[in-house]
Amino acid sequence: MSFSSLAAFVVKRLNGKVALITGGASGIGESTAKLFVQHGAKVVIADIQDELGSSICEKIGDHETISYVHCDVTSDSDVRNAVDSAVSKHGKLDVMFNNAGVGNLGSSIIDSSNENFKRVMDINVYGAFLGAKHAARVMIPAKRGCILFTASMMSVIGGFADHSYVASKHAVVGLAKNLCVEMGQYGIRVNCVSPFAVASPLLRKETGMEKEALEGLISEAANLKGTVLEAEDVAAAALYLASDESKYLSGVNLMVDGGVSITNPSLQMAVNSAMS
Ligand SMILES: NC(=O)c1ccc[n+]([C@@H]2O[C@H](COP(=O)([O-])OP(=O)(O)OC[C@H]3O[C@@H](n4cnc5c(N)ncnc54)[C@H](O)[C@@H]3O)[C@@H](O)[C@H]2O)c1
Repeated sequence: MSFSSLAAFVVKRLNGKVALITGGASGIGESTAKLFVQHGAKVVIADIQDELGSSICEKIGDHETISYVHCDVTSDSDVRNAVDSAVSKHGKLDVMFNNAGVGNLGSSIIDSSNENFKRVMDINVYGAFLGAKHAARVMIPAKRGCILFTASMMSVIGGFADHSYVASKHAVVGLAKNLCVEMGQYGIRVNCVSPFAVASPLLRKETGMEKEALEGLISEAANLKGTVLEAEDVAAAALYLASDESKYLSGVNLMVDGGVSITNPSLQMAVNSAMS
């Protein structure tokens, strides 16, 4: 049992809160759904993987506590319906976690597919925008709420993923910053959580690697040694940002990257190579 789940037995940090999590059928979203429920939240998972999403809900809790709604985040009517379903089922929406996303490993700008660029922007940016817009629609009258986004370490650096992905994650942070200003007037907080690399289905599919081998590679590339970043660690950061413990945090892009985004190993490698 992780430290976070153990702590949930002692203090329920989201007691009475209602959360909607896009991309909640897998990876970071799934771990967050589980942790939020352990901390007393009512959760609605919104995803396009209907069977998986429903089976995950059954595993995590009863239908009153966690439920699934089909929602393609690029569809305005789907996102509207997901938000309205959460409100009609639970009476309110406290936390909107815009987490759904697709990844892309790098390719040269010359070889980049135009259609793929549009697809990534559509899901990662337009989808996040729609989530924020419909959440704001119900949160503004209530004068409370918390809007969260999963951005990425790629929201602050370049060179490690496809142009579409890096551009999309920078855009998500820009959206969150601008929203933080408008939403602050209504007591609504807006933040991002930005992981380094997690061996989730997304990254396994992109790399074609098995979990263990991928985690080995991630650990090798990591700045923080002796541990490996897991979806649960990102969920723990989302829990903090969703809970009242972070009641005065807004406009933050919380890096969950073990410091890797502030290092530049190429300088050290060049020095080592020159000295050897
Ligand atoms: N895994 C990583 O290394 C990593 C690192 C940084 C940021 N992220 C970000 O974390 C988020 C979650 O990714 P993950 O690693 O858990 O991947 P994942 O593939 O395990 O989960 C992503 C979920 O999003 C859903 N999804 C995709 N398109 C959708 C759409 N149009 N509408 C609704 N749902 C949709 C998928 O069905 C899936 O369940 C993404 O935004 C991703 O960019 C991941």
